Amino acid sequence: MVQAQRKMQTQVGTAEQGDTEAQLSIRNLSKIFKTGDGVTDISLDVQPGEMVTLLGPSGCGKTTVLRSIGGFLEPDSGDILIRGRSVLNLPPEKRPTAMVFQSYNLWPHMTVQDNLAFGLKIRKRKKVEIERSVTEALELVQLSGAARKYPGELSGGQQQRVALARALLLQPDVLLLDEPFSALDAKLRMEMREELREIQTKTGMTMVFVTHDQEEALSISDRIVVMHAGKIEQLSTPQDIYDRPGSLFVASFIGRINLMRSISDGQHIAVGSKVVQQDGSTSIPAGACTLAVRPEDLYLTGEPDSLEGTIRQVMVLGHYAEVSIHCEQEHLKMFVPREQAAELHSGQAVKVGFHKFTAFSEVSS
Ligand SMILES: Nc1ncnc2c1ncn2[C@@H]1O[C@H](COP(=O)(O)OP(=O)(O)OP(=O)(O)O)[C@@H](O)[C@H]1O
Ligand SMILES: [Mg+2]
Repeated sequence: MVQAQRKMQTQVGTAEQGDTEAQLSIRNLSKIFKTGDGVTDISLDVQPGEMVTLLGPSGCGKTTVLRSIGGFLEPDSGDILIRGRSVLNLPPEKRPTAMVFQSYNLWPHMTVQDNLAFGLKIRKRKKVEIERSVTEALELVQLSGAARKYPGELSGGQQQRVALARALLLQPDVLLLDEPFSALDAKLRMEMREELREIQTKTGMTMVFVTHDQEEALSISDRIVVMHAGKIEQLSTPQDIYDRPGSLFVASFIGRINLMRSISDGQHIAVGSKVVQQDGSTSIPAGACTLAVRPEDLYLTGEPDSLEGTIRQVMVLGHYAEVSIHCEQEHLKMFVPREQAAELHSGQAVKVGFHKFTAFSEVSS
């Protein structure tokens, strides 16, 4: 991670000099299907050893971008460069990419060993070299004992590990992963995420990972590309996207958030009768707007001018509690430590403050 960040910083420097050092560079990519759906004007640089995640709701265009990189779809316009060279004219098998799909696509009649060796045989590698590479790849995905088994004898998670090993063996310049863990149960999905991250650190491989699961994206990525309706909505680090969402869509898609209808006069923002921002540090044009506050950024206060509300419900969830508050026509969620929750009960009148919030000139529907 640190290494990747360092690489990114170096890259920022070179990009400013107009140099192309990116491992993968997508430039103004557009692909519109006959139905009118697709993606428009996607530009993205992925640095060597970086894990970039395409995140967004179903139908936003994640797979379209990934398939274009892998050569399974021909873009209408734009360019795709890998290590500085356009790959647009190359068929999928000639591109320096490998793809891992949601369905594992293993050959059922071949052993794990043969499934893995197949791609290398086609590439006419020597037998001893193939044996060694396959053994190493199986070790990397923690399946050393499974070489003689058939895919049908393995669990879903194990089959996906084999599919991952097969892709890694091709030593692609860019590894493409399209929702590889979405068929697995929640616990296994979390384990696989950690393993993939470890493999990436060990191999230094550049990866583009697709998911519609925001938690998966936040936990696994160096940077996240949030997509919405065929366009890039925001591109930044997980922390930045969580703390500084660039649009109302990003704010509401990523993490839990309270959205409050509010009004701006160009300098101050009011929720109901209370002004919540005096300093004018965020400039929001006059008119209706939306305040977005994370549940962990709400607190109970005694300050006289703060928002007044009533507790509706207190739910203890392990080490913290989720408190529902009815406040200025809105239902807010607040996270508090478990000890504090013991003093709270439904029907209680409270005053609410915000540690921080983001204001958007858009109005939530
Ligand atoms: N071959 C195709 N022909 C026509 N429309 C398509 C085709 N492939 C994708 N689309 C449309 O393009 C849009 C983007 O599809 P895409 O598969 O890239 O979405 P996605 O973000 O991967 O969604 P999901 O999370 O459901 O996999 C969708 O509206 C989809 O219906
Ligand atoms: Mg998809």
